[in-house]
Amino acid sequence: MSREHLTSALRRIAVSGTNAMTDRATALREAGRDIISLSVGEPDFPTPQNVIRTAKAALDGGKTRYTPVTGTLALKQAAALHFRRDLGIDTRPEDVIVTAGGKQAIFEALVATVSEGDEVIVPSPWWVSYPQIVRFAGGKVVPLVTHPHHGFRFDPGDLSAVISPRTNWLILNSPGNPTGAVYPRQMLLGIADVLRRHPQVMVLSDDIYAPLNYTGEPHSTLAALCPDLADRILTVSGVSKSHAMTGFRIGVATGPAWLLEAMGRLQSNSTGNPSSISQEAAVAAFEGPQDFLEDWRERFRQRRDMVVQAIRQIPCLSTPVPDGAFYCFIDAKPLMKRFDNDDNKLALHLLEHGVAVVAASAFGGKDGFRISFAADEKVLEEALTRIATALA
Ligand SMILES: Cc1ncc(COP(=O)(O)O)c(C=O)c1O
Repeated sequence: MSREHLTSALRRIAVSGTNAMTDRATALREAGRDIISLSVGEPDFPTPQNVIRTAKAALDGGKTRYTPVTGTLALKQAAALHFRRDLGIDTRPEDVIVTAGGKQAIFEALVATVSEGDEVIVPSPWWVSYPQIVRFAGGKVVPLVTHPHHGFRFDPGDLSAVISPRTNWLILNSPGNPTGAVYPRQMLLGIADVLRRHPQVMVLSDDIYAPLNYTGEPHSTLAALCPDLADRILTVSGVSKSHAMTGFRIGVATGPAWLLEAMGRLQSNSTGNPSSISQEAAVAAFEGPQDFLEDWRERFRQRRDMVVQAIRQIPCLSTPVPDGAFYCFIDAKPLMKRFDNDDNKLALHLLEHGVAVVAASAFGGKDGFRISFAADEKVLEEALTRIATALA
């Protein structure tokens, strides 16, 4: 047996760039090196206590068996509440699918619908897995390049320019990973006008960072703003980022019945139901108190301000202020000659100096790197000092 047995679909994809760097940092740490990891995409705050208690009670109460493949009724009800309360999407429990993390919902939706030669518009810089999944499905990634001076957002005109008769999806991620870009209401309304002229285009709205928005404006999402488009939109959310539950592996999505059915068919023949314990815990997450989020948002906002200020003091580095999520996407163009114009070399250089970051090229960007500010203030301060020293 050898690599020739791999399918052409599998040969088109690589391990996620963020996972690869995080694994590398963990290995170095285990070998005794002092490494600060700013490569990982998860909140450092503890999972809320009510969630932990519910997970323990689920184990003690024998909730250790198969559940319906696409999720328990209790979690679908709680997710419908979440979609209504937090995203403004008027959905019903039967219009919800529960998946093993938001990632599985995105994977299933694209694999179920993208055929050879179909085009998927992916704004770049992008979350690492979108283009990989599109390629795996046999589709063509059409990058919609965004720029720091526009807050890493595209506008309706930019979208019009890349839509073709073969476009079958537009991916929207707000607040976005890796840039923290947030699409305001007005901009989404403009994007909706373009979409109305192209009825073949579906929208995958990835709202997994919705609660982590520092603009002071309520979260806006396409399915809530434009109910006339709702039958073309899959909205993905979850508890990973909002409730520090990355290890529980629960995502939720709402969209048209035919698509949820197709996703469920894939799920029933692959992973089966998401973990029964995790589903119980996610009900507690959605239905329990949400007031801790106010505190988390404030802490993240303060860290963001601290990180942006420190980065801007390092010669040759620049970054816009991210409006949401917990990442800074940093430009290091003036330094790139020193690293043979290869930002992976820059990331490895920073790793040598004790900080794990992810190269911009992993996200379809270039000449820079992403850091996560989901780390303790003291840790962030030390990491920024190391970065400044490494680049001095
Ligand atoms: C933009 C975006 N979407 C989806 C996910 C997947 O989240 P989950 O851990 O729930 O699969 C992530 C995780 O990093 C993300 O950053």
